Amino acid sequence: MIASPRETVSVGDYLVASEAQRSLVMQVYDERYLDVEGIEEEIAREEVLSASAPGVTSDPTELTTISTLIRDMRILLCKARGTLAGGRLTPRANWMPSRTRSVVTRLMIEELAGAVEPLGVRNIRLGTVDAQSPFGIPAEALDGRITVITGKKESGKSHLSKILLRSLLENRAYAIVFDLNDEYGTVGQRRDGTESDQARKVRVVRPGRDLKFSLSSVGIRPISNLLSHSLDMPGTSLREFGKIWEQLDNRDELSLASLETAIQMWRCNEFVRDALFARYHTLASCGLFTDSPHQQFDLQDFFTLNRSGGALVVSLSGISPLNRKMVVELMLSKIVELLERRKIPPVFLFAEEAHLYLRDTYWEDLITRMRHFGVFTIFITNQPDAIDQKIYRQVDNIFLYNFSNDSDLDLISQASMADADTVKAIVRTLPPRMCLLLGYAVRDLPVVVSVDHFDSPPSGLTRRFFEDRVEVGALS
Ligand SMILES: Nc1ncnc2c1ncn2[C@@H]1O[C@H](COP(=O)(O)OP(=O)(O)O)[C@@H](O)[C@H]1O
Ligand SMILES: [Mg+2]
Repeated sequence: MIASPRETVSVGDYLVASEAQRSLVMQVYDERYLDVEGIEEEIAREEVLSASAPGVTSDPTELTTISTLIRDMRILLCKARGTLAGGRLTPRANWMPSRTRSVVTRLMIEELAGAVEPLGVRNIRLGTVDAQSPFGIPAEALDGRITVITGKKESGKSHLSKILLRSLLENRAYAIVFDLNDEYGTVGQRRDGTESDQARKVRVVRPGRDLKFSLSSVGIRPISNLLSHSLDMPGTSLREFGKIWEQLDNRDELSLASLETAIQMWRCNEFVRDALFARYHTLASCGLFTDSPHQQFDLQDFFTLNRSGGALVVSLSGISPLNRKMVVELMLSKIVELLERRKIPPVFLFAEEAHLYLRDTYWEDLITRMRHFGVFTIFITNQPDAIDQKIYRQVDNIFLYNFSNDSDLDLISQASMADADTVKAIVRTLPPRMCLLLGYAVRDLPVVVSVDHFDSPPSGLTRRFFEDRVEVGALS
């Protein structure tokens, strides 16, 4: 498409080429100057002329205006996204509108949205599109789906995920958040410190302090997973451990204390006993398990106490990588177990930088088996290569912030559901706080959104060296 200098169109905007019966919907994904034969020569000649003869300005036929206009003409590179006919949009894009008879106009996102069936009625307002019109996605677009929010550092990913979380809470949904930077606890509060209606639904728990489990509530399956994957326990010892567990469980005597005694008394090879003891001590000293009934965290209680939805924020900051892994695995297996037994409703899982605490095998599990049971994950990461390509293929929604690094761009453009040209060209030029939304939530019609402010206390800030120094200096 050729655009004159007066026409303001930017990358991401939609255009429509209309004929009598139908119109072709197109999206601008890149723009460049029109390259007319000999244009560089003309620019050079004009520069020389104006430099050498500054007085000559008379141009009776206004040739310069035309030539400047031509020089400022742009080519808008577009992708066809579908056909509008009778007010409905279909994905058909296998025809070309006439170059002479069709009329090209802007198509606002609002009009575009009006031409498709809405996915749901619970709107999550995200920001604005086409400069000023409000834009949101239905909460239903996240329900039962896998979502990825990615972009470089400080681009606004956590900000967006908090907007999603608060809106989900407003819609009485349940969420579990793996919080690495202690920034989700305030998701229900406003900037001025007052509490929104959602604040009381948010509960922050700290592993080892108010998040402790009893052995019996966790069960053998998660524990043996933990032992074999996170603590590298060999198969033979694992089998012995299973037998000890079973015996204690049958006698209804499962506890850290009885486990220790049982390992001591167990008849087995010394190497196996050593292996058992080593793992036992890791479990006993990590602070995640307790025998005291008062200290145990009951996940099901969280759901029964919060009848109108809630967010359980698991604070993973300040704990060791091994403990992080253990907490996450225990939580996930507990959630799946409760879901399997239909004790709790489906939950949204917010996972920031999940590669730091999620084993590779868990990823696929999350997007296949766990999703099936009702865990709908929102992965938030600034390292798109931490997520396997296999996983991207299963993802339903992608929120893409700016990436300037070529290898990240390559990866993300291959992985996302829109064509690589669009993703690369748009994402490279996205300013901060704007994101490209792809996938199910927008019916595969990529939309560039300028994300709203979020009324909550500032959080997730990195501690700085010089900020502290100011106060010290002021004292002296
Ligand atoms: N749409 C926005 N409007 C206003 N401030 C924003 C917006 N997006 C991000 N910010 C601010 O920019 C900073 C970085 O955002 P953050 O979401 O923490 O980045 P990321 O998680 O991508 O590293 C935060 O202080 C946040 O409040
Ligand atoms: Mg962040």
